[in-house]
Amino acid sequence: MIFVPTLTHGDIVVRSVRPRDARVLGRLTKDNRSWLHNWEATIPGYSQSPPMSDVIRSVLRLARHDSAAPFVIEYRGEVVGQVTVSGLSFGSLSSGAIGYWISQAVAGRGITPTAVALIADWCFTGLGLHRVEICIRPENESSLRVVRKLGMRYEGLRRRYIHIDGDWRDHFCFAVTIDEAVGGLLARLTRGTANESLADIPQSDRKAVRTPLR
Ligand SMILES: CC(C)(COP(=O)(O)OP(=O)(O)OC[C@H]1O[C@@H](n2cnc3c(N)ncnc32)[C@H](O)[C@@H]1OP(=O)(O)O)[C@@H](O)C(=O)NCCC(=O)NCCS
Repeated sequence: MIFVPTLTHGDIVVRSVRPRDARVLGRLTKDNRSWLHNWEATIPGYSQSPPMSDVIRSVLRLARHDSAAPFVIEYRGEVVGQVTVSGLSFGSLSSGAIGYWISQAVAGRGITPTAVALIADWCFTGLGLHRVEICIRPENESSLRVVRKLGMRYEGLRRRYIHIDGDWRDHFCFAVTIDEAVGGLLARLTRGTANESLADIPQSDRKAVRTPLR
C-alpha cells in the first residue's frame, strides 16, 4: 500500500486523490476538453474515456498494490489538476513515471513544476525510488518547458510509446536519478539553479520523429 502524503510549497498543495474528487476532476476535465485532448492517455480500442469515478477507483486500486501514487494539485485551496506517479517498480529498478495536467485557467504560474518537484523529491526520500521519468510528446512545448525548469536529463526517443488521443505516439523521455537530485528538485527550482541544458534534445531525435516508423 502506497501512503500518499500531503506536501506543500506556498499556495500549492499536493495530496492523495480521493473518491470525492471525482466531481471536481470530472468537471475540470470536461471544461478543459480542448486543452487536454492532445495529451490525454487513451485505451486502445475504446473511443470514450471512462467516468472519472472509475478512473479514481482504478488508480486507488493501483496505489493499494504499490503500483501508483495518485495526487491532486490544489492551488489557493482549489483543486486545479493532477500528478500521478505510475508504473512504480521497486527492487532492482526502483523507478516510476510521472504524468500531469493542470487547468488552463491557472496555466503559466509555475504550479506544475513545483508540484512535480515536491513529488519527485518525495519519490526519492519517502518512497525510496532511485529514478523517476517523464515522457512527453514532441509537440508538447509547454510540458517540455516543465522538464527543462526541473533540470531533468534527456534520455531519448521512444517511438510509438504511449497511446494518447487515440493512437500510439512518439515520446521524448527525461529522467532524474537520486544521485543527480542531491539537495532536491524543489530547492533547485526555487533558486533557479537547475541545469536546463540537461534537457536539450538532439536534432537527430527531433528529425527522427518526422520520419514514420516502418
Ligand atoms: C504542461 C502543463 C502541465 C504545464 O503546466 P503549468 O503549470 O502551466 O507550467 P508552467 O507554469 O511552468 O508553464 C510551462 C510553459 O507553458 C507555457 N504556457 C504558459 N502559460 C500558458 C498558457 N496559458 N497556455 C499555454 N501554454 C502556456 C509556457 O511556455 C511555459 O513556459 P515558461 O514559463 O518558460 O513561459 C500544462 O500546460 C498542461 O496541463 N497542459 C495540458 C496537459 C499536458 O500537456 N500534460 C502533460 C503531458 S506530458
